[in-house]
Amino acid sequence: MPPSTENTQSADEPLRLQKVLARVGFGSRRVCDDLIAAGRVKVDGEVAVLGQRVDAEIAVVTVDGMPIGVRPDLVYYVLNKPIGVVTTADDPQDRPTVVGLVPDEPRVFPVGRLDFDTEGLLLLTNDGELTHRLTHPSFGVEKEYVAVVESEPSRAALRQLREGVELDDGMTAPAKASLVDDRMIRLTIHEGRNRQVRRMCAAVGHPVERLIRTRIGPLVDRQLSPGDWRELTVDELRSLQQVVADHR
Ligand code: URA
Repeated sequence: MPPSTENTQSADEPLRLQKVLARVGFGSRRVCDDLIAAGRVKVDGEVAVLGQRVDAEIAVVTVDGMPIGVRPDLVYYVLNKPIGVVTTADDPQDRPTVVGLVPDEPRVFPVGRLDFDTEGLLLLTNDGELTHRLTHPSFGVEKEYVAVVESEPSRAALRQLREGVELDDGMTAPAKASLVDDRMIRLTIHEGRNRQVRRMCAAVGHPVERLIRTRIGPLVDRQLSPGDWRELTVDELRSLQQVVADHR
């Protein structure tokens, strides 16, 4: 099950300091309370007290004199999107949405898109800058998919996927493609065109029966069950930020 969370807080309300620390990876809220009680946490240069709330957008929070380094008002979730859920915040047809699977507050948005019938890893965040970088083609972040296809692909089909496939919106960029099993292809692309993997596989004669996203840049998670989510760890967030910094 996903971690429990308080869903009642509005985006602009000051946040409890222990929640801020827990969110950026200092441990459970209990552990963070202990840090505060030990006098190791300061807010804007003053030793923090238990129960203190901070204005997450402007407060400078340090632990043992080191700034915590991540804006505490920003949240980052990784969801294992199940089939039958749309990747939007609101659906005019009232179908279940990915946003409905994560906490309501603060309000987050999906980073890119997976089709209704695609499963796998999806990031959701309220960090607009990171979203832009992860989705803009110029940053070229790799996305890895496993596709179960209708029949066993030939070497020629795999080569075509690697070299580029002519689609109705132009040639695809070179991709990584390998056979995982008889009818299972691992395909890594760094573009984000609509239904791209499905169209690429169909174009080489192997329509997709099932599609799962297994990696976003450095981010993988084989433990997360469909429909479950968790917050990114500080290390995962730093790696993602690093990837988009490197691709500039
Ligand atoms: N490519 C697809 O065809 N569908 C997705 O959901 C993602 C990539």
